[in-house]
Amino acid sequence: MVSTMGRHFLITTFGESASKYVGTVVDGIPAGLPISEKDLAFELSFRKTGRRFVSGRRENDIPEIVSGIYGGYTTGSPMTVLVRNEDPQPSLYENVKHEPRPGHADLAFIKKYGRENWDYVGGGRSSARETLSRVIGGTIAKKLILLRGTQVGSYLKSIGNVSGSARVTFERAASSKHFPTRAESERTDKRFSKIVERLSLEGDSAGGIVEAIATNVPEGLGDPVFGKLKAALAYAIMSIPAVVGFEYGLGFDGAKLKGSEASDSIVKNSNGTISLERNLSGGILGGITTGSKLVVRCAFKPTSSIRIPAKTVDLDTLEDRKISVIGRHDPVVAIRGVAVVEAMVSIVLADYFLYEGIIPASRIERGPALEMEEKWKNYMREFTQ
Ligand SMILES: Cc1cc2nc3c(=O)[nH]c(=O)nc-3n(C[C@H](O)[C@H](O)[C@H](O)COP(=O)(O)O)c2cc1C
Repeated sequence: MVSTMGRHFLITTFGESASKYVGTVVDGIPAGLPISEKDLAFELSFRKTGRRFVSGRRENDIPEIVSGIYGGYTTGSPMTVLVRNEDPQPSLYENVKHEPRPGHADLAFIKKYGRENWDYVGGGRSSARETLSRVIGGTIAKKLILLRGTQVGSYLKSIGNVSGSARVTFERAASSKHFPTRAESERTDKRFSKIVERLSLEGDSAGGIVEAIATNVPEGLGDPVFGKLKAALAYAIMSIPAVVGFEYGLGFDGAKLKGSEASDSIVKNSNGTISLERNLSGGILGGITTGSKLVVRCAFKPTSSIRIPAKTVDLDTLEDRKISVIGRHDPVVAIRGVAVVEAMVSIVLADYFLYEGIIPASRIERGPALEMEEKWKNYMREFTQ
């Protein structure tokens, strides 16, 4: 079972839905990066349960840094962060022990690892509680890339077949942190809210599309063959539970266009730089960043756990059964997925920043670290909930 991702900025996630702790080990962080539990808690608050429109599991998600820090700065050694699981409620999953849930990893996990090794409580290791560990890694990655002024903003582009604004800037994407549905504007948030309220009443769910936009991305990240940045992003994002599709730039829409319609002119700017006129390739050509904004999207499937009954088979009796899930689930997993996508894009960028030598691998000088910290504090101030 592989639980580590990255080549230079490595995250290892651990824990299950009902284990004592979930957490992350991050390796490859240069010494001298300021990181606090407050930073981690801030980012975790955007994927937290127990809020409006998301799962009712009551978790405080309090991060505890147990290694890799001295005097508020990273030491260059692995950073380990623990978060206690406070509300696993195993009794809610008693029937799952013998009735695998449609759309979940239950059946595939049993077939591979054996029923005797199956931690059925809340999906065990396949639980989306694991994505908390990714957000912890993503926070550190965000601060690393901010050293060069790079930022990632994400938002919920659509729920089912209802979409928000067609064109969204980085600033609008980032502002989704103000809205419970993570829409790009108040207007879309109101529309999405009505949909989620209706789904909750019906005991049903919907899928959604999340877009992430990265700004101030340096040119030249990525290699031409297996080190393509688009491949690394696809790998990272497709590893998120419930993600069923990845695209960047024009994406799947590009397949419907003629070459003449999808052509993106190379133009000279007034300041003498050369760039692409429309950035239809989402900031990447040949797997290498062009210096334009990075634009990636992914599709989340509708939440599998719904009140409307679904068929399964009792593993003890082999009789047909019906499963209906009440409470503790997200009507639209893509809402909390926004924070996870943002984290994964940041983690991939941090990995490439270190690979390309854009940030020093060993030590960050105090001056740039403090400059970055100032920007980070402004960011936290802007979006404190
Ligand atoms: C943040 C987040 C929250 C999720 N919450 C739920 C949930 O409440 N109920 C559910 O059925 N699936 C939820 N999922 C999705 C399942 O974890 C996922 O569908 C399942 O593990 C099977 O994996 P797969 O869909 O990638 O095949 C969530 C996913 C994410 C990213």
